[in-house]
Amino acid sequence: MLVNADSIEAVNIYQSIVRPVLFTGLKADPEWLHQQTLSALGWLDQTHRQPAVHWLQAQLAATYCLTDDRLAQSVWGLSFSNPIGLAAGFDKDGVASGVWSSFGFGFAELGTVTFSAQPGNPPPRLFRLPLDHAALNRMGFNNQGAAMMAAVLQQRWGAVRRKEEPEATRHQNSCLPFPIGINLGKSKMTPLEEAAADYVGSFQLLKDWGDYFVVNVSSPNTPGLRSLQAADQLNPILAALQAENTGQKPLLIKIAPDLEWDAIASILETAQKHKLAGIIATNTTIRREGLSTKVIASTGKAVQEEAGGISGAPLRQRSTEVIRFIWKETHGQLPIVGVGGIFTPDDAWEKITAGASLVQVYTGWIYEGPGMVRRLLEGVLQKLDERGLTSLSQAIGLNE
Ligand code: FNR
Repeated sequence: MLVNADSIEAVNIYQSIVRPVLFTGLKADPEWLHQQTLSALGWLDQTHRQPAVHWLQAQLAATYCLTDDRLAQSVWGLSFSNPIGLAAGFDKDGVASGVWSSFGFGFAELGTVTFSAQPGNPPPRLFRLPLDHAALNRMGFNNQGAAMMAAVLQQRWGAVRRKEEPEATRHQNSCLPFPIGINLGKSKMTPLEEAAADYVGSFQLLKDWGDYFVVNVSSPNTPGLRSLQAADQLNPILAALQAENTGQKPLLIKIAPDLEWDAIASILETAQKHKLAGIIATNTTIRREGLSTKVIASTGKAVQEEAGGISGAPLRQRSTEVIRFIWKETHGQLPIVGVGGIFTPDDAWEKITAGASLVQVYTGWIYEGPGMVRRLLEGVLQKLDERGLTSLSQAIGLNE
């Protein structure tokens, strides 16, 4: 083993050494660092059959995976080994889809991918706000397009689909099963009135490769996208996608945290009308209240003047409130994926007991490092024990 679970706890190498060097010492640009990390993970994924890479992935899995029957559940007919997933936006083109399970995640959401490849907004477009344990991003759906993602996934998973390679060998670990979600967005060049055809175009190309799909109408970084959350605009998109969805893949919608309660209630009605499988709550916020960071160091501009969405700790409470609202409105009948500001087991537990069946992390993983998922799962198991609960599903919506 490279590092065993005890030594992860005793010396958090990432937080005490790696993070200060990367964030402060090297003053590495956040997007550059992200790209380097993703390239390395993508290389691991692509070369997974080489013995040394196979060995390395097995070491990662032995270090970071935590398997326990109490954490496993079935949602939408899909089996999850644990409830903690990688949120959308990290692996936009699906280049590292086979590696995420080695870091202990129970599922990963690839994308956002759009029908047309696009460069996204001009840099700089990703900023860390360490005082707030937060990030500000206005990436603008930079991605290589749905056809390229389909080609990447075909290259990575084709052998498993053809049953030439067992799934367990492909992942090199025991954190299985491992569902993959694909998050779909609208191409910037497509007018809002033609959004339905754009989403459907991506879905047609990718429907064989995702276990569930997400309609992203909540990014603040594509002009007008959030207006698609209104019922009159959402109806045709969901109708067109479900008409195409002959394989009945679970289809979810990801919503913004900045909506009023009546707007969320209206989305829930629309979601139920179109037989959506669940709601992802929430995307990043455009609010800036309560931040300790006043100025973005790398641009010298006030944080209010910088466009983009805030993720991480400042989003935590609002996203949990949205989860609680959805749970109550739907009487716990519609599975919720909770995301926003999860750093600790308490944060994950709060979202699960507010009504989330599954949770996702992004910003927390950047700050806390690769040992985070395992620490969250150990904490959640401890909470189940303390309350005499025998499975995670008993905690969903407990509303403590
Ligand atoms: C995101 N997020 C995001 N969401 C999405 O649906 N599609 C995307 O392409 C992206 N891209 C993206 C990039 C970056 C740099 C960040 C930080 C976030 C939002 C993400 O999935 C999540 O909803 C929020 O970040 C809230 O979770 P955390 O980060 O507080 O755990």
